[in-house]
Amino acid sequence: MNDDLTFELDRAFDIDHYHYFTSHLVTAEQSQREVEFLSRCLRLAPASRILDLPCGYGRHANLLAMRGHRVTGIDSNALYIDLAVKDARSMGVDVDYRVGDMRTLQDIELYDAIIMVFTSFAMFNHDENITTLKNMARALVPGGRFCVELMNSYPLKEGYKRALVFERGDDLMIDRLSYHAEENIFASKRVYIKDGKRRDVVMSHEIFSLEQMRVILRSLGMLIDYVSPTCVGGAFESGSDKMVLFCRKEGASEV
Ligand SMILES: C[S@@+](CC[C@H](N)C(=O)[O-])C[C@H]1O[C@@H](n2cnc3c(N)ncnc32)[C@H](O)[C@@H]1O
Repeated sequence: MNDDLTFELDRAFDIDHYHYFTSHLVTAEQSQREVEFLSRCLRLAPASRILDLPCGYGRHANLLAMRGHRVTGIDSNALYIDLAVKDARSMGVDVDYRVGDMRTLQDIELYDAIIMVFTSFAMFNHDENITTLKNMARALVPGGRFCVELMNSYPLKEGYKRALVFERGDDLMIDRLSYHAEENIFASKRVYIKDGKRRDVVMSHEIFSLEQMRVILRSLGMLIDYVSPTCVGGAFESGSDKMVLFCRKEGASEV
């Protein structure tokens, strides 16, 4: 068993396992509902410039483009960008897709809104996580909006353990979840059983409390307007698994 809690970024998001399960579990209807909720909370205008980072296979970016927004999608995995481009073509939408690393994005264009969803924040070490947020703050126009989804710290205590099992046909994805207080890491030691073969991978996130996020975002000129437990709404509670923060960059009056 692998005791290293570092996110295995170079192998965690492979097409044969990660994409095979997530594209099955997260339906097109779910992505559509998420886009409708995000659009409403981010108060997107038709011509808004939106950055979807990381965009994965473009499940939000393409739907946002269908709504008339000007969308850029960036992901470090070129295979996902290829899938996103292919879907954009079949949907008849135009999205500016690029391969890029969210830790080192600087001097990019300005956006009216940025989305960072499906717990895509906090996958790196602390400094890189903060740099990522700084890059986002810099890439927003004054008054621009930012949505970031992360684990909720409240239910996580030393000793927290949980296992989730997902099925696709005869194949299984098992998430063995645990919180490690000393390292402040929420880890999923994931096991895939596909075509009778086992594959192990560690996915982990640094944990930030809502209060910490408020302070960090405030220092970057962003205010949290609203907290949701999911990307489709609901009432956020201390026991919610996730927190989806809707933030606004200071510098323009609220409309
Ligand atoms: C949890 S998925 C979320 C994708 C998308 N937001 C969604 O909702 O489907 C995380 C994504 O982060 C991408 N990724 C991992 N490290 C990255 C990095 N350093 N820069 C940009 N993208 C990265 C992976 O390729 C993967 O597509």
